[in-house]
Amino acid sequence: MQDHGTDTGLDEIYGAADTSAPLPKSKFPAEERSPRHVYAAVHDELMLDGNARQNLATFCQTWEEEEVHRLMDDCIDKNMVDKDEYPQTAEIEARCVRMMADLWNAPDTNDGVGCSTTGSSEAAMLAGLAMKRRWEARQKAAGKPVDKPNLITGPVQICWHKFTRYWDIEHREVPMENGRLLLTPEEVLARCDENTIGVVPTLGVTFTGQYEPVAEIAAALDDLQARTGLDIPIHVDGASGGFLAPFCAPDLVWDFRLPRVKSINASGHKFGLAPLGVGWVIWREPQDLPDAMVFWVNYLGGNMRDIGLNFSRPGGQIVCQYYNFLRLGRDGYGKIHGACYDTARDLAKGIADLGPFEVIYDGDRATGIPAICWKLKDGADPGFTLFDLADRLRVSGWQVPAYTLPANCQDKAIQRILVRNGVSRDLGSLLLADITRALAHLEKHPAKHGLGEDDASGFHH
Ligand SMILES: Cc1ncc(COP(=O)(O)O)c(C=O)c1O
Repeated sequence: MQDHGTDTGLDEIYGAADTSAPLPKSKFPAEERSPRHVYAAVHDELMLDGNARQNLATFCQTWEEEEVHRLMDDCIDKNMVDKDEYPQTAEIEARCVRMMADLWNAPDTNDGVGCSTTGSSEAAMLAGLAMKRRWEARQKAAGKPVDKPNLITGPVQICWHKFTRYWDIEHREVPMENGRLLLTPEEVLARCDENTIGVVPTLGVTFTGQYEPVAEIAAALDDLQARTGLDIPIHVDGASGGFLAPFCAPDLVWDFRLPRVKSINASGHKFGLAPLGVGWVIWREPQDLPDAMVFWVNYLGGNMRDIGLNFSRPGGQIVCQYYNFLRLGRDGYGKIHGACYDTARDLAKGIADLGPFEVIYDGDRATGIPAICWKLKDGADPGFTLFDLADRLRVSGWQVPAYTLPANCQDKAIQRILVRNGVSRDLGSLLLADITRALAHLEKHPAKHGLGEDDASGFHH
């Protein structure tokens, strides 16, 4: 047997001692190893993750320009919280906040009120807390109790479940019903009372991609206020739509043009086109962000404003967000997202033409995000489930999640594709060809298990 005991430094990577045995998986390693060898081993292990570009479940960026990679490298040592040490990174964050306040039509963009976060989830926590604090102040001023706050949402992403559970708020989540997948003004009004801290419509519902009717909900709440005096604010979860509607549906009124909209969150790392790890929350005006949420930190030098759940955070994503704003402008974002909508419409047509599917949302830019979702036609029994199809598509590397809808539609399974920057028309046609091949395979080899749809395939967003 060959002796791999010593490493001469000359060995080819896979002939070296380091790589001739499995590397530690649990016990803390005892010795040093060559960076070349360890890099190769870790790099190889990452191959098993699958190809992010073929992950059509995620809303997040999986392709970035070369310059973004370079800026991320330039910023590897920049901590967003050290605003005194890295004043230009802090200034770049402030510019992004002002630009988004402008994009979303805040009344005074010179003084944008908001901050970067790690993603929309942290942004939701901050916006939710601001609503809670404002409601508490109002109740206390009126000598009323503050022990039973509630929040009204449609079928929302898990971050709002976290917000209500972590901060002891009653979550009045309007369930889906047959034929109604979105929040409606009537359902909102039926749940409002003086303990409602706010209403959260989503611009791009996670399950289907569709926009909820923000302006109609605002009008219903205006009417409620005129009738009863109850003044209930709106926060818009624009995780995806916040960086889509301004470019591709400019006539849709959903943002600070509606006075009742007090705050908006969006994920920079989704359709903001920044690399993973940045979200944003913007408040309409300074009085919408309670003072109690702002910390002043002097131990890094200077006296710096800090809003956020984290302390240390990487600065690169924020710098790259700024790069994208400058690089693309409204025109560039419109072109990139417009191409995604075109690809989505094309794919939706192709999927509808395959036969067994009914397209629920087809990537229409006026009513949702560049996504498609479909279900099996009612009453159809093609001999496979959407979960089987998801499994089969994995064979060619595609991740196309199938999942059941939330309450009260848990008995309905759907499948969804997110079309984002880099899912080109050509890749779309290759995917359609693979779906067609998968259907032919499933027809020839019917799935062994029945039509039970409780074994959801990966669905993380
Ligand atoms: C509507 C909505 N809100 C919030 C989130 C959470 O965003 P993030 O992953 O940026 O924390 C998502 C993620 O997909 C989402 O779709």
